[in-house]
Amino acid sequence: MTRSPVGRETGRVDGRPKVTGAAEYSGDHRAVGLAHAHLVTSTVARGTITRIDTTAALASPGVLRVYAAPESRLGLYPVTGPAAGFAENYVPLRDAEVRFHGQAIALVVAETPEQARDAAARVTATYDTQPPRTSLADEPHVPAGPTISGAPSSLTILAPGVGSIDAALAASDVVVEAEFHQHMQHHVAMEPHAILAAWNGDRVTIHAGAQIPAAYALGTAQRLGVLPENLQLITEYVGGGFGARVVLWSDTPLAAAAAREIGRPVRLVLTREQMFALTGHRSQLTQNVRLGASRDGVLNAVSHQSVSERPTTLAFTMTPAHATTDALYRTPNLHVDAQLAVLDLPGSRAMRGPNEAPGAFALETAMDELAIATGVDPVELRLRNYATTSPSRGLPWSSKHLDECYHVGARRFGWSARSATPRSHVDGHWLIGTGMATAIYPAHRRPASVRVRLLDDDTAVISTGISDLGTGAATVVAVSGADALGIPLTRVTPEIGDTLLPQGAPAVGSSATHATVPAIVNAARDAINELKRVAVTDDGSPWHGADVEDLRYEHGILHGQGRSMSFGRLLTAIDSPGITALAESPGAVDPGYVHHSFGAHFCEVRVNRFTGDTRVTRFTTVADVGRVINARAARSQLVGGVVFGIGHALLEENRVEPDTGRLANSTLADYLVPVNADVPDIDVHLLDRPDPVLTGPLGDGSEDVGTRSLGARGLGEIGTVGSAAAIGNAVYNATGIRVRDVPITLDKLIDRL
Ligand code: MOS
Repeated sequence: MTRSPVGRETGRVDGRPKVTGAAEYSGDHRAVGLAHAHLVTSTVARGTITRIDTTAALASPGVLRVYAAPESRLGLYPVTGPAAGFAENYVPLRDAEVRFHGQAIALVVAETPEQARDAAARVTATYDTQPPRTSLADEPHVPAGPTISGAPSSLTILAPGVGSIDAALAASDVVVEAEFHQHMQHHVAMEPHAILAAWNGDRVTIHAGAQIPAAYALGTAQRLGVLPENLQLITEYVGGGFGARVVLWSDTPLAAAAAREIGRPVRLVLTREQMFALTGHRSQLTQNVRLGASRDGVLNAVSHQSVSERPTTLAFTMTPAHATTDALYRTPNLHVDAQLAVLDLPGSRAMRGPNEAPGAFALETAMDELAIATGVDPVELRLRNYATTSPSRGLPWSSKHLDECYHVGARRFGWSARSATPRSHVDGHWLIGTGMATAIYPAHRRPASVRVRLLDDDTAVISTGISDLGTGAATVVAVSGADALGIPLTRVTPEIGDTLLPQGAPAVGSSATHATVPAIVNAARDAINELKRVAVTDDGSPWHGADVEDLRYEHGILHGQGRSMSFGRLLTAIDSPGITALAESPGAVDPGYVHHSFGAHFCEVRVNRFTGDTRVTRFTTVADVGRVINARAARSQLVGGVVFGIGHALLEENRVEPDTGRLANSTLADYLVPVNADVPDIDVHLLDRPDPVLTGPLGDGSEDVGTRSLGARGLGEIGTVGSAAAIGNAVYNATGIRVRDVPITLDKLIDRL
């Protein structure tokens, strides 16, 4: 009898190679005859290159080639069709136009990385420069268009007889209005973006980190003008994605095209500074939230408007009210709207709860302000406005235990001991405060294909082309494969991160686990059925000639007619190397429901009353994320999300220099992220309530899935949604100072303490 590993504390299947350094990330791979590339980037944000001087670089030691705009002759093409949404809209090094500060304008290839870097520093360019558009406030705003899930980003719902959202607000007893600002934030994955490209005739193998390997490979093939089947993308180990590895930037096509042109493998590793402009960011953002309520805090009107960037080359359409304000609280009158400003800035991209983290910062801060304005406890205020159907869509949730998150979180944190009066808890130089906020994140299904192979040594290989960004996806594949086959985890080998495998789920939107698990269940079911079929049809089998119905599969063993045999022994007996089954899971959810994960954050901060220095000292997060597949990895994901929240609230910002369009803080010395000293021991509790709908049968013929679908729901981003608001609310409780432009740095507190 095998106990299922589902829900247990499972160490990473790839933990040992990672901590011993045996794991090879994209930039670690070697190749015979390897040449090294280095990018040269623009020093203006908008204009035309008049001349690039490569003479000195070409004369530098070890230099093989210098490819420069406007016509590099690298044979690169536009990306079109479905892949176009996953790529920048210009061809790198193929024209003289400069679209943002830090755009690639030349590529140097040399014998060593140092030679390439040094020669790149000797490339000079002159420009015809135009003033860049860099300000959200100064440029015209255009409607954002549909949200990432295709819903309208502008929506107004009014109760009968109410003329406008403004009228609904005006008729409310209590109104809170607040405007929020944040500068650019960046993904700053630990692993730099790195590519190794090697050609063999007209086929190319590329090692690069990609969150959606299939789309990334398709876009790269189009850029290179090669057939998609001639491109293999390997993305086995990835050191963080957070949205920056969703799309195709200029780095991979340039490295691959250079490798083709010189006839040698090429490695390109971006510098940390280059990554800030070349691999995306979270847009600058202004949000305006207005809440109208009764004196006892019951919402009557909610309005949430935003303005963010639309960079000219590639934009993530930020709609921060989507899946936050349009989904969280019951209200008869609701208005959400998102606008964008066209700017000459680097391409923006989804980042770590792309709408939800900034959206929840605004909404959940405003809710705290409403709690103070009405004198209602912040937890009680949220329970008074608890929604049991989606406020924008009117549908019930597939599963929602947010109320339990509040209750359990309040108890674990000791919320009842709190004083609502700011500055009422002082310890020496430190003002101590507590705050809370809600977390919500949408759950989507996406298509996934999985191959299960049962081998004659009683092991199984589960293959799917998903990438593991460090999240634990490979481990989830192994755990749920072991569960579906009823065999120990040690007998399951996950195989991921290669476009030659069956197409895996995209590692985006906190959806990889619940997209992949149903396909694993389907493929395991099909493999077991095939095993039974072979058992009764192969004349080497002891069950030859029996009826399939007489056979029962349990825990890796076939039983029937008084005998039992493991699948490995049966396969050995019939001289078969293995049984293979390939199955898919559709990318659709039951349209009769809305699907979200939920959570509640509780936080304590200490603010130094003389310096304004803010420390997060306690944090409790309780999350409702469906069935937990791997308790350890799930908790780690939530902890990581809260760490992002600490960055969002207290540290992370990149400022744009208004006149030049240059990103001012593009190093990890200037762009601050939380380090261990910034992070307390974070208490994470997962409710572990299976979602009965999200991964259930969809009437696609895979009814078996319903019984073993596990009911998992996404948890990758939920920890970062609302956590920044909980911190800001705690800072208010500590100091009586409300800071609405993050990060909450000491300069915003010190004069008011
Ligand atoms: Mo995530 S921001 O969907 O990579």
